[in-house]
Amino acid sequence: MSIQLKNSSATVKLNTGAIIPQLGLGTWRSSDEEAYNSVLSAIKLGYRHIDSAAIYGNEEPVGKAIRDSGVPRNELFVTTKLWGTQQRNPEKALDASLKRLGLDYVDLYLIHWPIAFKTDNIKDDDYLTVPTGKDGKADVDVKDWNFVKTWELVQELPATGKAKAVGVSNFSVNNLKELLASPGNKLVPACNQVELHPLLPQDELIEFSKSKGIVIEAYSPLGSNGSPLLKEPVIIEVAKKYGVEPAQVLINWGIQRGYVILPKSVNPKRVESNFKVFDLSKEDVDRIHKISKEQGVKRFVHPDWPSFPIFE
Ligand code: A2P
Repeated sequence: MSIQLKNSSATVKLNTGAIIPQLGLGTWRSSDEEAYNSVLSAIKLGYRHIDSAAIYGNEEPVGKAIRDSGVPRNELFVTTKLWGTQQRNPEKALDASLKRLGLDYVDLYLIHWPIAFKTDNIKDDDYLTVPTGKDGKADVDVKDWNFVKTWELVQELPATGKAKAVGVSNFSVNNLKELLASPGNKLVPACNQVELHPLLPQDELIEFSKSKGIVIEAYSPLGSNGSPLLKEPVIIEVAKKYGVEPAQVLINWGIQRGYVILPKSVNPKRVESNFKVFDLSKEDVDRIHKISKEQGVKRFVHPDWPSFPIFE
């Protein structure tokens, strides 16, 4: 079967009224040089959505590539994320991110994980780290702070103009319910960015988020580092049928399910091919959906941060 591949141009509307391009570039695990080159080439190819995070350690090259691209700032959608050591002062953390990015505002600022870390063992203001306690384990704060308190601060950020929209990442249905039901909650998160691919289809979370007006964003759509999902026999078979690459099948499966999707690549050819969309038949979308029913669900990103129910 020969099909037509087009550059992605679809958008999704956030509960703020803003428009978010449905396909964006992920930048996790990109070195400085890789981040600069991949963001610049992505924007030149037509990407208008770049996803970053303070903890990725590459906001400076990401921001420089955005500025060097020559594309007007208001035509780009830029996200960054609040790290768990800075949940007690999100505005200060956002200011630091904006300084590194060299931008006046981000389009979306997300609480990166529903977890605050203790800051007692942080040295030299080195906040972009996972602090560890005496036992060598992550210093998770389960007593003095929580994501409800963080959200009370984060929901005030749009009024500063420094973040046009705010949201969360790695939030389960239960954690979202707790956030929405908290007495200090005044704002529904615009987005929830989560791991999402055929081995982790997140049906319940998608359904719940939709009912609340929260847009889902999929990270690690290829299975993260090393892209293990590209070896799935069903994905390979469907790719052969359409004459496309397995990565394109995985990305278009997400596109057709209607959420935002953020494949990461530092390889210029892949940055280009990952941006191509085509129509998968409903039958093939359903067939790919069945992979996790047959094999069981698999999560590739699960940090070892004890004492906190991140995923349930
Ligand atoms: P690279 O950056 O060298 O291209 P995910 O988006 O699920 O986090 O997956 C990222 C991983 O998938 C990275 O290892 C990335 O490597 C690889 N990758 C991205 N796009 C493709 C592609 N089209 N074909 C093969 N591997 C890819």
